[in-house]
This record gives sequence, structure tokens and C-alpha cells, in this order.
Amino acid sequence: MSSASSTILTFLGTRPEIIKLSPLIPRLTESCKRSVLVHSGQHYSYEMDARFFEELQLPEPDYKIKAGAAGLGAGEQTARMLSGLEPILETEKPALVIVQGDTNTTLAGALAAVKLGIPVLHLEAGCRSFNRTMPEEINRVLIDHIAKLLLAPDTVAMDNLIAEGCDKQASVHIVGSTGLEACLRASKLAEDRKLLAELSVKPSEYFALTLHRAENTSAEVLPGLVKTINALSEMYPVVFPIHPRTEAMLEKYGLELDNRVIRQKPMGYLDMIKLVSCSRATLTDSGGLQEEAAALGVPVLILRKETEWTYLVEAGKATLLGNKYPESYAIARACLKSENLEAMQEARIQIPKNVTEKILGIIKQFLES
Ligand code: UD1
Repeated sequence: MSSASSTILTFLGTRPEIIKLSPLIPRLTESCKRSVLVHSGQHYSYEMDARFFEELQLPEPDYKIKAGAAGLGAGEQTARMLSGLEPILETEKPALVIVQGDTNTTLAGALAAVKLGIPVLHLEAGCRSFNRTMPEEINRVLIDHIAKLLLAPDTVAMDNLIAEGCDKQASVHIVGSTGLEACLRASKLAEDRKLLAELSVKPSEYFALTLHRAENTSAEVLPGLVKTINALSEMYPVVFPIHPRTEAMLEKYGLELDNRVIRQKPMGYLDMIKLVSCSRATLTDSGGLQEEAAALGVPVLILRKETEWTYLVEAGKATLLGNKYPESYAIARACLKSENLEAMQEARIQIPKNVTEKILGIIKQFLES
């Protein structure tokens, strides 16, 4: 197949996919003739979607599927994406479909393409939490077993792919993380933001917090997490941009946050990077934010029992708090003692270089083979 005659179709639909694909999307035409962008609609409000296209100066999607709506089950959402994407694939006849990460959008994109015999490139392949109760873990495993090109962020992810035999049906490569590339670029652009003054907080004298995972927003787990957050806010204010799912669940279960928890709507990317980079520590259950905070030099307290990014824990940059009160609070308190916090601040992680170039090279080679 010649790259001169090829179309690449990228399928995305959630906040982290928009951010992590942002360095690659504008450059895809360097490796193919035509690049088509399709949005699934999984995230649909300005705060979770359009704002990132603006900030990251991305082109408008060529097609939009309206698969997202409040209260929709994962099955219905995924089904809408499959039936919306299939006719687009039939019209565009891409030589390759690119998907990123572990969302319902990622799974639907991969599945729709393989059913039509179109090869799939999975970016961020091989990440595993080994917790099969997470919808994201199921998505990752399924996608890695049907994609043709698996681009892993690091050797841990590569080892997972080999252990599952994924290298037998796909071409596997280690390329690093485009998320970190996007984050380091954004941290320069975010330097002049006035966010801290607007929030009335001082550098290193507040915690940044995000929380949205399905397993953390259940009736059993969320109340304990709220207790942990409220207790930590007695040490320093906690700035909390709240994901729509979490907002809905706080209300549903009647859970109250203390007044030193500064509630915010979901933030734009540059504000989020500014917020994290100046925080004393960042508490999160997000996959992307764990890596971003670590790359910005900030200690990371992970509100989960396990992480796909084990290298952050091994490097001493992140600690797993779990999600049960009072255990999570006790671990957090111990980490935040000055000598432990200093050790976390000083820990360094390796940041891979030229990630986008490597990906473009692999795509070009694939299309020409
Ligand atoms: C999804 C991904 C997760 C990713 C996260 C980032 C899956 C299974 N999970 O979880 O891997 O880390 O995105 O945010 O795909 N909503 C709005 N407005 C929006 C977007 C969503 O109100 O703009 C609401 C939806 O109605 C729904 C919830 O937020 O209630 C989204 O739930 P879901 O589709 O599971 O995605 P996330 O929880 O965002």
C-alpha cells in the first residue's frame, strides 16, 4: 500500500483522548495523504470537550457521532458509537484507524474497524491495572487483542503485551507517551495563568484533586473518599475541579464537602496544568493526571488500590492510597510528613523524547509495507 493514496482515520471522544492525541493529530498528514478525525460524542459539554479543541488548536472533527447523553449505559453508548462509525468507515475506507487509551470510545473504534477488516493502531497499548472490575481494564485487554499496531508507552506495558501473546498477532513498539509531550508543552504556555490568585491559594500551600472513576463514585466507596478529602483539607485547602459524574453522585448520595475544599467546574487544560504544577501534592484517580503531575515534579497520591503506571510508584514519585477511609487518610498523612514529601518531590522520572516522530515513522512504514 502506498502512503500517497492512504487515508488515516482517528477516532476520539473523551477529554483524555483529545489531550493525548493533540500532538499527533496536526502532524498525521506527514505520514499519509488524508487524515480524517471522527468524534464519538462520549464527552459532549463545552467543559469536557470543545474547550480542549480550542485550547490545543485542533481542527474541527470531520464527523461527529452523538453517542453521549446523561444517564446512558455503557452498552447503549458503545452500540451508538459502533452503528455511527460503521458507515463513516465504509465511506472513507481508511488504511488505518487510530485509537488511544482505554475508554468506551477506544473500544468502539477498534471493534468497528476490525469488523470491516481495517487495521487498528492502539496508542498507549499494554497498560494494565490487573483489576478486571474496571471498565477501562476490560477495554484495554480487548483492544490489545484485536489491534494490528500496538504502541506501548514503556517496557512494563511491552512486557504485558508479550505475556498475553499480543505480539503474535500485532506489530509491537515502545514509543513513550504523547500525554507527557502535550503536558510539557502546555506547562510553558500555562506559566502566566492567574489561576492561583483567582482561587486565593498560594503555591505549594494547597492540594489539587480529581476523582471520577466508576469504582470510586459508587455508593460504597465515595462517602469514604469524601471523609479522606475533608480530613486532608484541614492541613491545606483542596482545589477540586469536579467531573460531571462525580458531581452527580455527590448530589445523589447527599455528600457534603468541607468549606476548605474549593469546588470548581472541570478546568481547561492550561489551568489544570498550572493547578497541578503549583500544588503541594496532587491527589487523583486519573491515569493521565498521575503521569502529568509526576512529570511536572509534583508528588502524586493515587486514590486507587493499583495503577497502570507502576514506574511512578517504583521511582518514589507516587504512592497508592487505596480508596477506603480511614486507611487512605492515614497513608496520605504519612506521605505528607515533610521528610517523606521532600523525598517524593526530589524523585525523578524518565521522560521519553520525540514520541510523535516515532509514531509517525511507524505509521509511514506500515502504510508503505
Ligand atoms: C471516561 C473513561 C475514562 C476516562 C474518563 C475521563 C470509559 C469507560 N471511561 O470516564 O477512562 O479516564 O472518561 O473523563 O470510557 N458527562 C457529562 N458531560 C460531558 C461528558 C460526560 O455530563 O461532557 C457525563 C455523562 O453523562 C456520564 C458521565 O459524565 O454520566 C460520563 O461517564 P462515562 O462515559 O463512563 O465516562 P467517564 O466517567 O467520563
